Amino acid sequence: MKPEHANIKTPKGEVLISFRNVKKAFGPKVIYTDLNLDIRRGETTTILGASGSGKSVMLKMLIGLLNADAGQIIFDGDDVAKFDEHRMIDVRRRVAYLFQGAALFDSLDVGENVAYGLREQFWDSMTNDEILSRVAQSLKLVGLPGIEAMRPSDLSGGMKKRVGLARTLALQPEVLLYDEPTTGLDPINTARINHLINGIKRALGLTSIVVTHDMGTAFAVSDRLAMIGRGRVLMTAPKDEFKETQDKYVRDFIDGRAPETEDVDSLLSTS
Ligand SMILES: Nc1ncnc2c1ncn2[C@@H]1O[C@H](COP(=O)(O)OP(=O)(O)OP(=O)(O)O)[C@@H](O)[C@H]1O
Ligand SMILES: [Mg+2]
Repeated sequence: MKPEHANIKTPKGEVLISFRNVKKAFGPKVIYTDLNLDIRRGETTTILGASGSGKSVMLKMLIGLLNADAGQIIFDGDDVAKFDEHRMIDVRRRVAYLFQGAALFDSLDVGENVAYGLREQFWDSMTNDEILSRVAQSLKLVGLPGIEAMRPSDLSGGMKKRVGLARTLALQPEVLLYDEPTTGLDPINTARINHLINGIKRALGLTSIVVTHDMGTAFAVSDRLAMIGRGRVLMTAPKDEFKETQDKYVRDFIDGRAPETEDVDSLLSTS
């Protein structure tokens, strides 16, 4: 089920998404002072950063769930930061967000969960048979063919994540935003999801942005990585270069070391 992506103007390998001088604050809380990041079409880019640094906020600004205070967010040649709600609907059709901790509807079976977005978006253009066939294809893509009749409560955590992914893939997006796709999964299920992210990229040629804390996932799926902190992108590089970085802050994050400036006494006294 290779999508046509007839809309897309940007050639493969060129910059499809670009955050330019983006600022964002919530009241006095400043999240981004100067966010600059390019995402290339057909690549998987991973965003790394401490909890609360603004990773999810970045994804939400791209699809207009949050507005940037200043700057440009270019998607396929247009500044979507200036789009009104109506034009944003089209962006959300093209850019799918697999939410952090996305939940399935317990009252619906797996098939209807996967069909949900299709019924909502394409109620006037897809027949029921077309929808059911897309659901079947999507479940097959995530390695769970034929489980339409199962209930979400009968699925393991790993299976739920894959059904959530099938629900997103069913919409045939051009860009997939994965927010913490492996959080809470055991190493085997994490490896499975990593494998799926790569397989989906190969099969569908999607552009992906992955947000994760899991360095195994980051290095398993990325073409390029970006480290955010202090309101901006601190470093971005292709995977092999990123892995070898000697930048202290990035190195500590990759190797899971607390910064040297933090000592246990100070952590205890502020908590
Ligand atoms: N709608 C909102 N209103 C007010 N503050 C918000 C809102 N959304 C996010 N924030 C704040 O912005 C900061 C960044 O949030 P964000 O969810 O992007 O962090 P994150 O990097 O994704 O963290 P995590 O790794 O824990 O998911 C947090 O301090 C959060 O509380
Ligand atoms: Mg987040």
